[in-house]
This record gives sequence, structure tokens and C-alpha cells, in this order.
Amino acid sequence: MSNNLVWHEQHLSKKDRSKIKNQKPCILWFTGLSGSGKSTIANAVETKLYELQKHTYLLDGDNVRMGLNKGLGFSDEDRVENIRRIAEVSKLFVDAGIIVLTAFISPFEKDREMVRNLVEEKEFIEIFVDTPLEICEQRDPKGLYRKARDGAIKNFTGIDSLYEKPKFPQIHVETSMLSMEECAKMVIKYLEKNGYIND
Ligand code: ADX
Repeated sequence: MSNNLVWHEQHLSKKDRSKIKNQKPCILWFTGLSGSGKSTIANAVETKLYELQKHTYLLDGDNVRMGLNKGLGFSDEDRVENIRRIAEVSKLFVDAGIIVLTAFISPFEKDREMVRNLVEEKEFIEIFVDTPLEICEQRDPKGLYRKARDGAIKNFTGIDSLYEKPKFPQIHVETSMLSMEECAKMVIKYLEKNGYIND
């Protein structure tokens, strides 16, 4: 690592970039177990924002792990590094004036707090996609819970790796009570009510 680095101030600010997009940039941080519905809800929210002509980008667990974070596994250490990189990328998107949606298990509270502290207050919106383990396991869309129970996958979240539930999420969606559409609407309402997307 070089010590001879000097931060270069840019001519345009986050405020300038956001202004022409008619929005307040933020990170919609979806967290929850594998199979809880994070990606599904995040996709639905992104589509709604697109229809409202808002500028967004979705960073999604498996996709990011196939590119930027290729080579990282699921040890505690690798999960921390996974979230750290995603946090830095999200911060750049926020600086570009974009509403970022992220869908990662992000099981550790300390890491989610790290992301919160990396950006300005109100730029980090934690969304707990609360689906009981039994339901995620029943759905098992990728067949991974079965493999984890059989011992073919180690350190699987909820089975032999920890998930720390958010204590005070900005938005708490209980997917066993609401449809995915209703969950997505809850997020949009939050953004409207708190002045992120009303011009
Ligand atoms: S995180 O814990 O580092 O935030 P991330 O969201 O990127 O996890 O990746 C989770 C996805 O990777 C799961 O939805 C699942 O498809 C896959 N996966 C593969 N192995 C594991 C594992 N051991 N634990 C959890 N998810 C796993």
C-alpha cells in the first residue's frame, strides 16, 4: 500500500449530481437469510423506482460474488471482506447521486454498522427481510439448505453460521404476513415520506 496518496477534490459534488436526478441518493440495504426474498423485493423496488424515473443500481449477492468478489468464500473473514467492498462500491454510487439497492445476507451487525458509518446519516436505510428459517428452508429455491443439512456445504447461514437480526432496522418487512408487492410498496412509501424521491 502506498502512503503517497493525496485525495483529489472533484469539481462536481454529490449534491450537484443528485440535483439533476431529482432524488436524494441512499443505500437501501436489504438483509436477511438466504431465500428470505431480499433479491425479489429489491428487484420489485427498483422497478417501481424506475417507473418513477429515479436513477438506481442494484448490487445483488450472487452476481457480485461472481465478479468483483470472485474468490471470496463464506468464512466469517471472507463475509466481512465481501461486505466491506460492497460498502465502498455503494458509497461511490451514492456519491454519483444514485439510489443503490443491495441484497446480501450481511449476517453480522458490526458490518452493517460499518456501512452505516461509512456514509452520511440518513444515507443508509436498513431493511430487514424477516422470513423465518423454516420458511426459507421449505422454499429452498437453490437447493442449498438441503445440501447444508446433508453437510455438503459448510458455514451455511442459519444452519452452522450465525445470522444476527437487525435490532432497529429503518424498515422491517415480514414476508410471511405481506406479499412481495406489499413489501416493495412499504419501501417506496418510506422513501416518499422521508423526502428521498419527491422532487
Ligand atoms: S454474505 O453472508 O457474505 O452477505 P452473500 O449475500 O454475499 O452472503 O451470498 C449469499 C448467497 O450465496 C446465498 O444466497 C447462497 O446462494 C450462496 N451461498 C453459498 N454458500 C453459502 C453459505 N455457506 N452461506 C450462505 N450463503 C451461501
